[in-house]
Amino acid sequence: MAEPYYITTAIHYPNGKPHIGHAYETIAADVMARFQRLQGREVRFQTGTDEHGLKMAQKARELGITPRALADEMSAYFQILFDKLDISYDRFIRTTEAEHHAASQALWKAMEANGDLYMDRYEGWYSIRDEAYYDASELTEGEGGEKLSPQGTPVEWTVEESWFFRLSAFQDKLLALYADQPDFIQPDSRRNEVVRFVEGGLRDLSVSRTSFDWGVKVPGAEDHVMYVWVDALTNYLTGLGYPDMHGDMAKFWPADLHLIGKDIVRFHAVYWPAFLLSAGIELPKKVFGHGFILNRGVKESKSLGNVTDPGELADRFGVDNLRYFLLREFSFGQDGSYSVEAIVSRSNSELANSFGNLAQRTLSLVHKNCEGHLPRINGHTDDDNALFAHVDRVIAQEMPQAYEQLAFAQALDAWMGAVFACNAYIDAQAPWTLKKTDFARMQTVLATLYICIAQLTLAVSPVMPQSMRKLLDAMGISDDLRTIEGLRSHWYSPLAECNFRLAKPEGLFPRLELAEGEGDA
Ligand code: MF3
Repeated sequence: MAEPYYITTAIHYPNGKPHIGHAYETIAADVMARFQRLQGREVRFQTGTDEHGLKMAQKARELGITPRALADEMSAYFQILFDKLDISYDRFIRTTEAEHHAASQALWKAMEANGDLYMDRYEGWYSIRDEAYYDASELTEGEGGEKLSPQGTPVEWTVEESWFFRLSAFQDKLLALYADQPDFIQPDSRRNEVVRFVEGGLRDLSVSRTSFDWGVKVPGAEDHVMYVWVDALTNYLTGLGYPDMHGDMAKFWPADLHLIGKDIVRFHAVYWPAFLLSAGIELPKKVFGHGFILNRGVKESKSLGNVTDPGELADRFGVDNLRYFLLREFSFGQDGSYSVEAIVSRSNSELANSFGNLAQRTLSLVHKNCEGHLPRINGHTDDDNALFAHVDRVIAQEMPQAYEQLAFAQALDAWMGAVFACNAYIDAQAPWTLKKTDFARMQTVLATLYICIAQLTLAVSPVMPQSMRKLLDAMGISDDLRTIEGLRSHWYSPLAECNFRLAKPEGLFPRLELAEGEGDA
């Protein structure tokens, strides 16, 4: 039995509606979850909303509502978006859940029992936007001379009594972790940043607040709430039933992958493993910090008025087209820039023309020339075997290896290469002319294509689940065959011999259009 697999996204502050970055991260995690299921693994996939902290409290005050009402309203937008985007999460966690408060308090007590929490006074530069303190040496100056965090957000001098976590005691252990498990932080550029940061020395971390009360209460010190990042990170355990170490904790922990944005790598690769080491809990296997999605080269922001609702993009271009585009266009660890023209052109050339056409031509010929009976194989030629070998290498080696490394663009590049090879094969074999000259050979050519198309459909199904499911259904591929190994077995002849009949194929990917004048700029 394959190992269980646990993947998480970051949980998001529901202080506004979700944007393209949330869609991007969650789609990528979904592709990974679906890929692991294809490999036969039992997957737990968790996402959710991070509902405490000063940022939520302030936004709610601004709107004249309670933080709870803000969280309820906005968290629903995230769930609606994720459902629309066909995200196959198993658990949508909200940090306001009672179970999550209990789990956070249990983790706190475990760190306290280990002697890593103590009370002191704290003074420092605090950014509400980042919910983080910064060292004076890290600050920059804004245009008006105001102090800014390294992320460019305003900071304020803040003094409070607070609990501290003895982060300074974990420097050596963390450095040993990064050295022993080079894969713990990916990509490598992020890893190097973290190593340099930790080598520079770690100061104890302020982990409670008394200036507001929207959070998880510190056990035994009820005028304190936990620093939002302590409770947020605990979500990864809550979803598995922690502090109960049996059941899902035993099955799925440690997490295989925390998929997060590059701006929060420090929290996941420094603070989180330190908390877990302190509490005596195993460490996650990998933290991957992905890049940002820019809109025509600039970050989306309310002040620029260039914020796009990812749900609208999905409605306009199709969920699968959007998913394909986001993972195909950019290298996953790096920033990428999108535009409606780029979405339209990628979809039309690769999905409608290359893959859609291949499937449409092949299935139409089977439907017309063979009356929907799957054609018989009458002995394969070298050309057929060369195509099989190419497709097999892509679906069984290149794509799985790339998916495993979150190199989605590379996986899709290999996929496209195999689609091209199929198109070159169909043009060279010209089954439409073989109909009259050599019916037996036409059958073999169509059968060869049928097999390759089914395999390529399955291999790309993590990226485009809806349309690929439709195609596999139309092609008569039963659910029990839908693993990579299943479609590498001898499934074709039994299917051809049973009384399955291929219906008249329907177009998969309609050609997308730009609106008048769109993209002229
Ligand atoms: N809400 C945080 C942010 O948007 C991310 C929290 S991820 C967690 O930056 F796992 F730590 F919760």
